[in-house]
Amino acid sequence: MPLRQAVRSAIARVHPFQAPWYSEKAGFFGPHYLKEYVYDLTPERTLAEIDFLEKTLALKRGDEILDCPCGHGRHSIELARRSYHVTGQDLNSFFLDEAKKAANRAEVSVRWVRGDMREIPFEDTFDVALNLFSAFGCLESDEEDQKTLDQTAKALKRGGRFVLDIMNRDYIARTYREKVKDWQQFSDGSAVLVERQFDPATGRNVQKRIRILKNGKRKEFSFSIRIYAVEELEAMFRKAGLALKQVCGNYDADPPTPDSMRHILIAEKS
Ligand SMILES: C[S@@+](CC[C@H](N)C(=O)[O-])C[C@H]1O[C@@H](n2cnc3c(N)ncnc32)[C@H](O)[C@@H]1O
Repeated sequence: MPLRQAVRSAIARVHPFQAPWYSEKAGFFGPHYLKEYVYDLTPERTLAEIDFLEKTLALKRGDEILDCPCGHGRHSIELARRSYHVTGQDLNSFFLDEAKKAANRAEVSVRWVRGDMREIPFEDTFDVALNLFSAFGCLESDEEDQKTLDQTAKALKRGGRFVLDIMNRDYIARTYREKVKDWQQFSDGSAVLVERQFDPATGRNVQKRIRILKNGKRKEFSFSIRIYAVEELEAMFRKAGLALKQVCGNYDADPPTPDSMRHILIAEKS
C-alpha cells in the first residue's frame, strides 16, 4: 500500500483518545444536525421515499420492517402510520428520544432499540431491512461495514429484502475531485462552513465542517465516509448472504446514470 494511503487509512481508523465521529459523544449527530439538514430532510422527501419503498418492494400490510440506523425516526414513523410493523434501531439516544416523541404525536407504535448497527439483536425476523441516507460507510473500515451487512442479513427472513441508500461513487469522484467549499446560514443566525474532497486512494469522502453559533462560538468536525462502488457492494452483499437484485438512481426508480447523485440498492437474502 503506498505510504500516503497507509497514513490516511490509519487516520481514518485510529483515534485512540477521541470518540468515533459518528458516536453521540462526538456531537455531530445531535440537535444541530437536525437544524443543518432541515432543507434536505423535508417531510415531502420522506413521503416520496416511503412511496418508492411501498411500490418497488410491493410491501404488504403487517410486513416486519427494520429501519437501522433510523436516526430521528422519519421513515419508521411514516411506515408505522401506513400499518407496517416497524423496529427502529440507532446508536443515538437523543435521536431515539426525538423519534419516540414524534411517534407519540403521530399516535403510532414503533419498537425502538438503542444499539450499534454492527450488533442487531434479531434473527430471521424481518421482511425488509432499510439502511437509508448515507448511514453506510461512516465506520472506520470496510471490515466494520461488512459486520453491518452480516448482522442485517442475519436479522432478515429468507427471501427478505435489504434496501441500501448511498451516494453514487462516480458522481462524488467527479464532483469532489477538487476541494469543494460551501457554506449555509440558518434562521437562528448560526452558520456552517463545509469543505469536502473525495480521496480516490481510500474511496473516502473527507469532510471538515465548522459550525459557527450565533454567540460566535465555533465547533469543528472532521470525518470521512467510505463511498462504495456498486460492484464492491455486490461482493460484500454476497459475503453476507445477500444477492443484489436492482439498483435505482433515485426515488423515482429511474435506472442509475453517472449523473445520479444516489444509488439505491435492493438485495434479497438467499
Ligand atoms: C445520516 S443519518 C441517517 C438516519 C436515517 N436513516 C435517515 O434517513 O434520516 C445517520 C444515522 O446513523 C446513526 N449511526 C451512526 N453510526 C452508527 C452505528 N455504528 N450504529 C447505529 N447507528 C449509527 C447516527 O446516529 C444517525 O442517526
